[in-house]
Amino acid sequence: MKVLVTGGAGFIGSWLVDSLLQKDHSVTIVDNLSPQIHGEMASLDLSKLKDNRQSVDFIHADIRNMEAMDKALAQSDAVVHLAAETGTGQSMYQVAHYYDVNQQATAAMFEAIVTKHRHIKRVVLASSRAIYGEGAYLLDKQVFVPGSRDPLRLQNGQFEPLGPNGELISLIATPENSLPSPASIYAATKLANESLGRIMAEAYGLTVVALRFQNVYGERQSLRNPYTGILSIFSNRMRQNLPINIFEDGQESRDFIHVSDVVRSIQLALEKELPRFTVANVGSGIPTTVWEVANLLRKLLNSSSQLYISGDFRSGDIRHCYADMAIAEKQLDFRSSIDIKSGLKVFSEWVMTQPLLVDRSVEAMAELTKLGLGKCRE
Ligand SMILES: NC(=O)c1ccc[n+]([C@@H]2O[C@H](COP(=O)([O-])OP(=O)(O)OC[C@H]3O[C@@H](n4cnc5c(N)ncnc54)[C@H](O)[C@@H]3O)[C@@H](O)[C@H]2O)c1
Repeated sequence: MKVLVTGGAGFIGSWLVDSLLQKDHSVTIVDNLSPQIHGEMASLDLSKLKDNRQSVDFIHADIRNMEAMDKALAQSDAVVHLAAETGTGQSMYQVAHYYDVNQQATAAMFEAIVTKHRHIKRVVLASSRAIYGEGAYLLDKQVFVPGSRDPLRLQNGQFEPLGPNGELISLIATPENSLPSPASIYAATKLANESLGRIMAEAYGLTVVALRFQNVYGERQSLRNPYTGILSIFSNRMRQNLPINIFEDGQESRDFIHVSDVVRSIQLALEKELPRFTVANVGSGIPTTVWEVANLLRKLLNSSSQLYISGDFRSGDIRHCYADMAIAEKQLDFRSSIDIKSGLKVFSEWVMTQPLLVDRSVEAMAELTKLGLGKCRE
């Protein structure tokens, strides 16, 4: 296959490119080496890629540059569209920019595919668990998705969501047909791209696969970007033995999945016989609390950072979400294979080889707080 990987210099993209090359596919990358991810004056180090370098064409360009995208699309027969702005909080004030990069550029890419590049038969879209908002729960044996939590209850340290009349509800795995409730502009752009993909697939006979990645972690993730990823923020602070502020009561949970599993899911999405449009969760199917993850990481990094449960919260944050993996198992034959302990072990070994960075997470949080989007506690 000749695969265009947008965002191929990024965290997931670089592993995907490695894996495609190992399977003898040829790859075109379109990536603008965004300074927020790669630092100023970045260049793509193709030597990081394992072998087969001659099969990679790196186009250093923005996905909004249609001339560059046309060139890349013309020489590909499948697309994995990973390039995006990824800061949930940041999307709430860089609204137009997030729409432009995440949504408008995806629309322009689909338009180019169906009007000029009909040889392209398959598009894999990087969607996100963020489209759900809060995860799914059971209320009286029915699936129930709570809305955003009451700030008064949060201020009183009552963090678990409740039913509409204050009933207790129990967490279940979130299935794909759970009612989406995006709580950020980032999430809204991801959901809109899924609709765009479905409509294009049905109208033009393309095969489109939207993969809703859960919390992806692993080697090569950006330790620089202070707007995403608690594991980056925690590990950077832990290496400097700085205290770690654990929000809420630390029992909030997420579904962490190692990048190598995610790459395998993308490969399957490229290769499998699939209906015109497929949407599938890609996670481990297991919730892990923030407290547990912080403790595991601290131990692995041999850090003396104090972990303190602050009761701080952010009003738009969700409490829990983990993936129902039935569709991925059935349609893609995908199951994650790396548990959180083994994944964090490899991740922390890699972290220790990376340069120490100035911690910008406090600054980033202050920026959000100034806009009324950051942590709050009366
Ligand atoms: N990492 C996660 O936990 C996670 C979870 C859900 C969804 N996703 C999605 O998966 C995709 C890849 O995520 P990642 O973690 O590898 O992110 P990343 O930030 O490491 O990689 C994104 C890449 O896209 C490039 N890029 C950004 N804007 C661009 C533009 N305008 N033009 C060209 N290139 C541009 C960046 O330079 C970067 O190399 C994204 O679409 C993201 O929304 C990631």
